[in-house]
Amino acid sequence: MAKITNIQDLKDIYKRRTPKMFFDYAESGSWSEQTFRENTSDFDKLYFKQRIAIDMTNRTTAAKMIGQDVAMPVALAPVGLTGMQCADGEIKAARAAEKFGVPFTLSTMSICSIEDVAEHTEKPFWFQVYTLKDDDFMRRLLDRAKAAKCSAIVITVDLQVQGQRHKDIKNGLSAPPKLTPASIANMATKVRWGLGMLGTKRRFFGNIVGHAKEVADASSLSSWIAEAFDHSLDWTRIKELISMWDGPVILKGIMDAQDARKAVEVGADAIIVSNHGGRQLDGTISSIRALPAIMDAVGDKIEVHLDSGIRSGQDVLKAVAMGASGTMIGRAFVYGLGAGGEAGVTQALEVIHKELDTTMALCGHRDIAKVDRDILMIPRDFAGDWL
Ligand code: FNR
Repeated sequence: MAKITNIQDLKDIYKRRTPKMFFDYAESGSWSEQTFRENTSDFDKLYFKQRIAIDMTNRTTAAKMIGQDVAMPVALAPVGLTGMQCADGEIKAARAAEKFGVPFTLSTMSICSIEDVAEHTEKPFWFQVYTLKDDDFMRRLLDRAKAAKCSAIVITVDLQVQGQRHKDIKNGLSAPPKLTPASIANMATKVRWGLGMLGTKRRFFGNIVGHAKEVADASSLSSWIAEAFDHSLDWTRIKELISMWDGPVILKGIMDAQDARKAVEVGADAIIVSNHGGRQLDGTISSIRALPAIMDAVGDKIEVHLDSGIRSGQDVLKAVAMGASGTMIGRAFVYGLGAGGEAGVTQALEVIHKELDTTMALCGHRDIAKVDRDILMIPRDFAGDWL
């Protein structure tokens, strides 16, 4: 592999090695993709203050997320179909994360099942829960996560109905991919990917197929979501789900101060300020712009994490400086996975760690726990002065 120095390098290789259908699935936002674009470009509107002549020896990026020690305040976000980006993708990403010392979050819509990931890892991982109509299935899903010793659940609250990504419809996204002349022609050029897939039995939604009633073959993500997802989800149901789990609960997909206050009321342990990587409500603001109002509302009452748009350690540092005690990366680790499997995810984490550590030092800090807004120059209108 060519010398990797940044996340874009991994993305370039990922694009070459992965069938178009799955590259497009990751590298899209909903509708016009405005929110998807602004999630990354808004980080560039925040500037660092360069500080000099400060002792920069003995630095640490070690932190805690929901009470757990992490090597840096970065977790791997739940990403559906990770096992289609690279054979056994969830297992590979989870192993890279545990070796690095950061949390891995397994999606409900993963290819490798909860049990499979647990069997191939040593440390507990987090499990992401989509809220489904079938209460029986939900209870069993949580029991399975308990049995697999997951150390937290992440309840995703921003996907009762699904945002539309045009490319997924045009590509006929499914797992395993449907064989059409176009998909066969494209996959024939992705030899590494194809050999990997031929060598594994994990090609279906491992948490769903064979576990949910009447789902013997959930190949189409969007039709399953349309049928199985609980469109009536409300705070009473969220509270009920929280009570079904004994450990820490993180609510993912909060963009509004009122919703953040509600999350505190229902007893969540942490929230993730997230617009689902620009894949749900197109036209909403970036999550980094949404963060200040949420910190003002609940920053002293609950742990606040952030995802959407993070592509570098500099982005992580900006989120932390703005008050987030943790971050999640989605696409940044997927690029690594598609480029180089487990080693590629490790490279993504190494790149981000190095950027975070060096940038923190150049801002005059040695300990990530001491970083605050003082390291940033924030435009006066960054959080918005809305009517
Ligand atoms: C996601 N995301 C997501 N979230 C979730 O709660 N469950 C899921 O199954 C998925 N699936 C998924 C697939 C793909 C391909 C992407 C890119 C994202 C959202 C994810 O957890 C996270 O919020 C975003 O990825 C964060 O944005 P960045 O880091 O990708 O910009």
